[in-house]
Formats: sequence, C-alpha cells, structure tokens
Amino acid sequence: MTLTAPSLLAADFSRLEDEIRRMENAGADWLHLDIMDGIFVPNLSFGVPVVESIRPVSKLFFDLHLMIQNPLAYIDVFANAGADAITFHLESQSDPDETIDAIHQRGLKAGLSLKPATPPEALLPYLSKLDLILVMSVEPGFGGQSFMPGALDKIRFLKKAAPSVLISVDGGINQKTAPLCTEAGADVLVAGSYLFSAEDPKNRISTLKALS
Ligand code: DX5
Ligand code: ZN
Repeated sequence: MTLTAPSLLAADFSRLEDEIRRMENAGADWLHLDIMDGIFVPNLSFGVPVVESIRPVSKLFFDLHLMIQNPLAYIDVFANAGADAITFHLESQSDPDETIDAIHQRGLKAGLSLKPATPPEALLPYLSKLDLILVMSVEPGFGGQSFMPGALDKIRFLKKAAPSVLISVDGGINQKTAPLCTEAGADVLVAGSYLFSAEDPKNRISTLKALS
C-alpha cells in the first residue's frame, strides 16, 4: 500500500497542532518536515524548535527532509528534536557515507534525496545503506509548484536498482500525478498543497493511499 506524507510546509503555521491533527485524523502515515537554510535552497522554512514543539502532539512518523548545506552537522540536533527518518541531499556538502552512518548511529532511518537535474545513477554507491530515497519532482525550496515528469524515469530506475528501499516522491503530487508515480514504483507520496488546501483531506488521503 502507498504511504502518504503530508508536507507541513503547506500548513497554516498559526495553528500547527490543529493542522497536524487534521492530517492524522484524515489517515496520514507520515509527517514530512521540510527544513531549509536559505543557502542550499533559496528559502527559509523552520528548524529545530518547531520540530521539538510538535513532537509531543503527534505520534506520526516524522520524515525530515533537510534542504541544508551541511546536514552532517545537524543530525544529532534533529535526532534529539524527535526525527524518525532524516533525508538529506546528495548535492549538499556533507559526505554521504558519513552522514548516513551518523543517522543510523542515532537509530533513525536514513534517506538521500536528488534534485531534478541529478541523475539517478549518482545514488548507486549508497543504495545498499539507504532506507529511503526521496526523488524530487520539483526544484526544492517551495511548495505549490508543478510536477516535473522527469521524476518518473528516475523512480523506475531506482526501484529496479533497489527494490527493497522505499522510494518517496516530493513535489506537485495530486490526484493526477500520484498514479503516475505509484505506477513507476513510488512507495511514499509527499503532498503539501494538495492535502492542506482541502477542506476535508480524508478523501484526498484515501485517494492517494488506494494507489499501489
Ligand atoms: C519542496 C518541498 C516539498 C513541498 C511540496 O522543497 O520539499 O515537500 O512542500 O509541496 P507541494 O506538494 O505543494 O508541491
Ligand atoms: Zn520535502
């Protein structure tokens, strides 16, 4: 079954607890948390204090997506803040092997993410150590962008190369693009605006989860 991961970036930040409950009650599996540093991507989002504050209000699996230049330096603080999985970018400045090991040493799931221009072959050396791959289907940095179909071939390639690693897809996911991703082999659908803009997200989450 496909897992759904609402991206908190699209929530109403004045009511974070209610927004998280809304997704939990609608059947979300994970909560996707986008951390941006204004350097790796041209935007700032939120950081450690927010992750720490929302940890006690939700039992959802916290799926952190670090869009930051030096993820290795922040593994411990995000682990302490309550992350369940930490995904970082292959294009960041941290050594991938060292960073994956640091995440595993804290007992968390480790993921690597690729920007749209990075070929999937670049992940081959790390596949045996990864729990999760996050394929970006938009340029990272902002919610509400249109899905880039080039992500589909990447998902196909990576699913074939690493059938036991969870493949997650992030950016522009809605009822039209989600089936294309699951057909290609995606296991986890990250969706921000599609889910948080809904009056009642339950139907939308059911639609996404029904895909396999
Ligand atoms: C973009 C983020 C995404 C974003 C997705 O850098 O990684 O998680 O919130 O938003 P939508 O679903 O609106 O494209
Ligand atoms: Zn994300």
